Amino acid sequence: MELVDTHCHLFYDDLKNDLDIVLNRAQELGVNRFICVGTNMEDSRECLGLAERYENIYASVGVHPHDAKDAPEDYLDQIADLITFPKMIALGEIGLDYFRNISEPDIQQNVFREQLTLAQRLQKPVIFHNRDADADVLKILSEFPDVTGVAHCFSSDLKTAKTFIDLGFYISFSGNLTYKNSHLPDVAKELPLEKLLVETDSPYLSPVPYRGKPNEPGRTRFVAEKLAEIHGVTLQIIAEKTTTNAESLFSL
Ligand code: NI
Repeated sequence: MELVDTHCHLFYDDLKNDLDIVLNRAQELGVNRFICVGTNMEDSRECLGLAERYENIYASVGVHPHDAKDAPEDYLDQIADLITFPKMIALGEIGLDYFRNISEPDIQQNVFREQLTLAQRLQKPVIFHNRDADADVLKILSEFPDVTGVAHCFSSDLKTAKTFIDLGFYISFSGNLTYKNSHLPDVAKELPLEKLLVETDSPYLSPVPYRGKPNEPGRTRFVAEKLAEIHGVTLQIIAEKTTTNAESLFSL
């Protein structure tokens, strides 16, 4: 069995300092490829460094909505430059976060639009973050009909999920799918396996039974198991489908 953790932040100290151990534990759980997702220029470069050191790590480059206010003036040139590396497989994470509003909404929107414009020009998939911003994310994504990608750590409702799929996006579930009283199992149940991905968002969002502890990529396994239970299929089928989906979206 093989699973792809389509979204993890391996550059944080807890993960980076023990990376070989962390990745071995992941292999034991059947998780053997990892997409290390950048949130600003510095950590995107770290992702690329890891991707060049480890055959089974891939990288993405982008400015997270929290970091939008601190994006360097030439960040689009830097992204265009970094994305020429073969293991830099997507633009992300980008998006909107109105829950924390660490950057002003209008700055977030600008930086989101600029990166989507670049993704469209470079024909690269995007990894987007959306927190409490369904309407604006949908509005902005609809301005870029040629751009595809993934709604990372999906946490909205079924209608929003279906609209993202109609726009050509995959839906990625993380550990919060396993949380007690979550609405997400009811959403996931209605979505076709052909459009689903799994991820950890490590070091955040540890799934049950590790909720509240620092997360690591191997725990993609628990998200996949939950998805299997929800859809009434074997873990093997979830692994095959989500891995095929990841390979196709990110040209792995
Ligand atoms: Ni993330």
